[in-house]
Amino acid sequence: MGVDTSLSNIGCSAFFEAPKDFFVESTYPLPGLELEIGSASYADIEEIYLLESEIEGNDGADLVTLTARWRMFGAGFLTARQGGRLVGYIESCLWDCQLPYFEARPDFFASLHRLGAANLYIIFLGVAADYRRQGVASSLLAAVSGVGYRYGACRLQAVSRGHITPLYEAAGFLPVVAMPGFLPESGVDFMLMERTL
Ligand SMILES: CC(C)(COP(=O)(O)OP(=O)(O)OC[C@H]1O[C@@H](n2cnc3c(N)ncnc32)[C@H](O)[C@@H]1OP(=O)(O)O)[C@@H](O)C(=O)NCCC(=O)NCCS
Repeated sequence: MGVDTSLSNIGCSAFFEAPKDFFVESTYPLPGLELEIGSASYADIEEIYLLESEIEGNDGADLVTLTARWRMFGAGFLTARQGGRLVGYIESCLWDCQLPYFEARPDFFASLHRLGAANLYIIFLGVAADYRRQGVASSLLAAVSGVGYRYGACRLQAVSRGHITPLYEAAGFLPVVAMPGFLPESGVDFMLMERTL
């Protein structure tokens, strides 16, 4: 299965540069939860780092990397909180990159991030283990779609671990192409998923 990954036939919504204090803040009512979703602040980074370490262990991004991603595109770096507790987050950048081209180097995203680019790429999405399967990740995907739309992106992109693709499909993404070896995780398949905005 595949979708057309060329930009030629896709109409982009008009680009406008958001004000520097652009801030997404929404409440997502889910059964039993009332999530607060908004742009991460600098003060959130250490807590995000702790959650990232819980989720990804030694393979998680370090504080320097997370801070650099926040500085790169803070409006696309969202947190989900329940009663004040950080329960999930999503990181993104804007680029024109045509995956499956990818370089595993720490500054790869920052080197290609550009306001006005056609694609909003989801760098990472994580939810605390005790808050999974309650719609937190889906709510973060909905919120980051709004960011992409406001920044004039035409398309959302994510590289999904194979077993997670139902999450993206439920959010309207389609599988585009397998990306074997995207991350050095043995026995894990990766799939580029895309959705037009
Ligand atoms: C993947 C992850 C972000 C999902 O978060 P979540 O808040 O549990 O996801 P949601 O509750 O919004 O799930 C919505 C739907 O996506 C699908 N889904 C979510 N997690 C899934 C999983 N582990 N396996 C298969 N399908 C899954 C299901 O269809 C689910 O609906 P259902 O619960 O009614 O069956 C979370 O499990 C996580 O942080 N995992 C570790 C990090 C990771 O793999 N991140 C993704 C990078 S590719």
